[in-house]
Amino acid sequence: MLDHERVAVHTGRRSRLPVIVAVHSTALGPAAGGLRLWHYPDWRDGLADALRLSAAMTSKFAVAGLPIGGGKAVVALPEGERLDPGRRLDVLRDVAEVIASLDGAYATGPDVGTGPDDMAVIAESTPHVFCRPERLGGSGDSSPHTARGTLAALRAVARRLYGTPSLAGRTLAVAGLGRVGGRLARLLAAEGAELTVTDIDAGKRALGEELGAVWRAPEEILAVDADILVPAALGGVLSARSVAGLRCRAVVGPANNQLTGPEVADLLHERGILWVPDYVASAGGVVNAVSVEVHGLGAEQARVRVDAIEGTVDALLDTAVRLDRTPARAAEELARLRLAAVRPVGVRPTGHATAEPLALP
Ligand code: PHE
Repeated sequence: MLDHERVAVHTGRRSRLPVIVAVHSTALGPAAGGLRLWHYPDWRDGLADALRLSAAMTSKFAVAGLPIGGGKAVVALPEGERLDPGRRLDVLRDVAEVIASLDGAYATGPDVGTGPDDMAVIAESTPHVFCRPERLGGSGDSSPHTARGTLAALRAVARRLYGTPSLAGRTLAVAGLGRVGGRLARLLAAEGAELTVTDIDAGKRALGEELGAVWRAPEEILAVDADILVPAALGGVLSARSVAGLRCRAVVGPANNQLTGPEVADLLHERGILWVPDYVASAGGVVNAVSVEVHGLGAEQARVRVDAIEGTVDALLDTAVRLDRTPARAAEELARLRLAAVRPVGVRPTGHATAEPLALP
C-alpha cells in the first residue's frame, strides 16, 4: 500500500537523471526534508530510499513538535558518476523545477551530498528551500545544529545509563565523520569523551588523530566495545546480524533510517541495548532551520529548542519504561498521537497545527 500523499518521479530535463520527490504527509503542515544526492545501483533503490526517508521526516517533525510534514528528495546517481560543476547545476535546476511544480507541498533542505550553496541554486527558481547560506538570508548549514541536537540526546541517554548527563570519560564509537559526524566527534572530544571513529573516506583519519581518537576500519566499528555507538553516516547499519554483534549499551546517532526494518528495534531491546530512534536524535537540523526561517526566532532561541531534544529524549525514555515499551514504540505512538490530533480519522486536514511544541502525553 502506498503510504505517501504523493510521489513525483521525473527524468531531469537537463541532467537526464532520475529526480524523485516523496511527500509522505502534509497533515501537520507543508512537507520538508533534505535533498539527497547519492549513488544507487538502480534508480528504484533511490525511490525506496526517498519513500522511507520521507516517512521518517513525518515522525521527526511530529516528535519535535513542529508544524511541518514529511518529505524527501533523492537524485539517484549511477554508481561511480562524479558531477562536475556544470552538471551539478543542471541537476539542481532539475530538482528546483520539480519542487516548484509541487506548489509549496514540499520544501527542500540539505542532506547527504548537498549543502547550503546547493540550496542557493535551488532558491533561484523556487522559494521552497531551507538552509540557504546566511549571507543570502537563509539559516545556513544545518549540520552543526544536527550535531548539537544529537549531543543533547546523548546526554539524556547518559543520564539514564549512568545517572549523570556528562559524557566525560565515556567511550563512544562514532561511525561516520562527515558534515554531522565530524562536528559531533569534535563536540564529544571537547566534552572529554573517549572516541573510536571511522569513515569510508580514509582522509578523515586526520580528524580522528586531531581528536585523539582510535581509528577503526568501517566494517569493525559496529562491534567495538564502547558505552555508546553513534551511527553518523548512511542508514541501514542496524540489522538482525549486526545487532547480534554489538558490544555497547546504547545506540544513539544522527544517521537517518538506521534500522533495516522496524523489528530490529525489538532485537536491540531484547539485547538490553537502548536505542533512541534516529528521527528523534537527529532533529536538531530541522528544529534550527524551521525555528529561524519559519518562526523567525534568533539564533539563541533556536539553540534552546535544539537543546530541548534532551528533555524530549528524557520524557520518551520515561514513557517507554512506564508503559513497558521500547523507545521506538513510545516515539511512534507520540508521533501518531500528534498526527491524529490535527487529522481526525477519515477527515482531510483543513488547517495546520500551531507552532507550539506539544507537551508529551
Ligand atoms: N537532512 C535534514 C534531516 O534529515 C533535512 C533538513 C535540514 C531539511 C534542514 C530541512 C532543513 O533532518
